[in-house]
Amino acid sequence: MRLKSPHHVKFQVLDLEQTEVFAQDFGLLTVERTDQQLIMRTGGGDAFAYVAKKGNEAKFLGLAFEVESKNDLESAISDHGASPIRELTTPGGGMAVTLVDPNGLEIDLIYGIQRINPEEAYKHLEMNAPGQYTREGRFEPKRPMGPAKLFRLGHVGLFIPSFAATLPFYRDVLGLIPSDVYHIPGQPQAQIVGFCRLDRGEELVDHHVVALMQSQTGETACHHISFEAQDFEAQFMTHRYLESKDYELVWGVGRHPHGSHIFDVWRDPDRNRFETFSDTDLLKASDGSRVHNIAEVEMDVWRSDPPDRYFE
Ligand SMILES: [Fe+2]
Repeated sequence: MRLKSPHHVKFQVLDLEQTEVFAQDFGLLTVERTDQQLIMRTGGGDAFAYVAKKGNEAKFLGLAFEVESKNDLESAISDHGASPIRELTTPGGGMAVTLVDPNGLEIDLIYGIQRINPEEAYKHLEMNAPGQYTREGRFEPKRPMGPAKLFRLGHVGLFIPSFAATLPFYRDVLGLIPSDVYHIPGQPQAQIVGFCRLDRGEELVDHHVVALMQSQTGETACHHISFEAQDFEAQFMTHRYLESKDYELVWGVGRHPHGSHIFDVWRDPDRNRFETFSDTDLLKASDGSRVHNIAEVEMDVWRSDPPDRYFE
């Protein structure tokens, strides 16, 4: 099976209207909203990237990846016991099967979904630097303070009860490759966190599409969802906008040591973490894996805050 890219995430939320207001301020664009369901997209051309269903309790329902071909759906059924192929009635059409990960999370594999025309991006950021003074003039800021222009769903962070019990599904069934793995201090075999990328052979892919994080409480949940923003300047302008609306900041704007991406994380009305990222590292399948002692890992190379604050 060859995953192409993450496609969308699904949540159950308490109040669709409040969720939509936050998500629009964050940068997602509404595709449709009914009494029971909210479907939103990025501006990058996806038919949709975020689904919220109304319910009595806030919870993460699962995520979906696009695959290369209908054959991938069929092999997911024959090799891994996925559900039968079903036609999708969501925007963009297509078809899907569902796998269930070891913790009960639904992982949809989808094929044949139609894309739409992308929104216009900001003009590429030009920066003057020693030896490269190429930008002429600039008399006022070029970016508005407002919701992010989002380009795609990039990755999802998951809390899982056991890293050892969960990794084999993501590695052997979905074919993901651990890029950076963390172990308990003094116990190199006791791995508890892994940032996993797609296997696209020699094609460059994001440092991770799924981050598996062993939870302290044994829970299975979404830690965060992350959408690509254009660059750090766009992220800072959206940060100021979300601040002006009194949303709850989790962390940012900062830069992760592993993956190198610049991140900014906020909470939605149900306290789910929504992240923008930019400037991520890209790796090939042959770039291998690295293992680190978690005690030596920082959360943010630009700040000294204790990393556990991000996981509260
Ligand atoms: Fe992230």
